[in-house]
Amino acid sequence: MRVTVIGGKGHVGTYLVPRLVESGHAVVNVSRGQSRPYLPHSAWQSVTQVDMDREAEEAAGTFGKRIAESEPDVVIDMICFTLESARQLVEALEGKVRHFLSCGSIWVHGYAAVVPTTEDQTRRPFGEYGIQKAAIEDFLLDRARRRGFPATVLHPGHIVGPGHVPVSPLANKNPGVYEKLRQNEEIVLPNFGLETVHHVHADDVAQAFVKAINDWHDAAGESFHVVSPAALTLRGYAEAVAAWFGHDARLRFLPWEDWRGAVDLNEQDIGQTHDHIAHSPCISIAKARRLLGYEPRYTSLRAVFEALGWLIEHGKLGDPKLGQGSPA
Ligand SMILES: NC(=O)c1ccc[n+]([C@@H]2O[C@H](COP(=O)([O-])OP(=O)(O)OC[C@H]3O[C@@H](n4cnc5c(N)ncnc54)[C@H](OP(=O)(O)O)[C@@H]3O)[C@@H](O)[C@H]2O)c1
Repeated sequence: MRVTVIGGKGHVGTYLVPRLVESGHAVVNVSRGQSRPYLPHSAWQSVTQVDMDREAEEAAGTFGKRIAESEPDVVIDMICFTLESARQLVEALEGKVRHFLSCGSIWVHGYAAVVPTTEDQTRRPFGEYGIQKAAIEDFLLDRARRRGFPATVLHPGHIVGPGHVPVSPLANKNPGVYEKLRQNEEIVLPNFGLETVHHVHADDVAQAFVKAINDWHDAAGESFHVVSPAALTLRGYAEAVAAWFGHDARLRFLPWEDWRGAVDLNEQDIGQTHDHIAHSPCISIAKARRLLGYEPRYTSLRAVFEALGWLIEHGKLGDPKLGQGSPA
């Protein structure tokens, strides 16, 4: 089939596009032409690149039309962040595609009620990013059920892979804590260190997209979580990273208000920590396993250790510029 990926040269696309090509699909990648995949792969030679800025095309009202012009059987939208953006694209593609897959986020859930969180739980998102992702999901599944638009939404956890700092034991993307754990320095965790983070390797996200395409009759009209088999507590995570560096972790705990005043972090890092621990995701993958045959290759720790290995190998463990990225 002809698969158009919108935003396929990033974190997930690095793995997704080669998997699609290896499955025999003809792939078109739409992006601005600024980013390159993190890892080389011969599959990219057979990918058709279309340079396009989504924001500019949306402002001109031409984005959906231009995607439709690539005559896709399947569209994978990796970079949809607003309901209006989703609406514009879907209206141009209705009746023209066999399958439409959108990348959501586990942030659609907001506050957890029963854990591990399943897809059928009432959405209580907070923060603009999660609210918009929940609105996009609601819109797509409504279109699927009322009008038969073949939409699937996949919700990754904190994506991990080479080239990026994984969400850390301090629940933010500042790499400094890994350096401290490497040096066997004390680290201070908020509260009792029992709040959670839930990672997923980018290749497991890619796996889920490919499986959803292969199983479209089970996938259409549905959303699925895509995370590792189990979430980590911040304490367990810090201890495991320290052990990976050959030490016992030296941990201290402070209530949130004291913690935020005591740590050597900027407001952006502290805000990220707050956002992550306020969500404290612990997410079920039972539905994706049952319906799609999704089976993550990576535990959270295995994914994190691979990413840390890449950062160390490239001398970037202490590079704060690497800690910037999308919220979840
Ligand atoms: N990061 C996480 O931990 C996390 C967690 C849960 C969900 N998500 C979701 O994952 C998705 C992002 O996937 P990712 O991490 O693979 O993305 P990514 O690494 O940020 O890559 C983004 C891709 O989109 C392209 N792009 C960016 N802006 C564009 C624009 N205005 N017009 C056209 N192309 C554009 C980029 O290429 P160019 O720069 O060349 O344009 C690149 O190919 C989002 O939907 C996000 O909500 C992320």
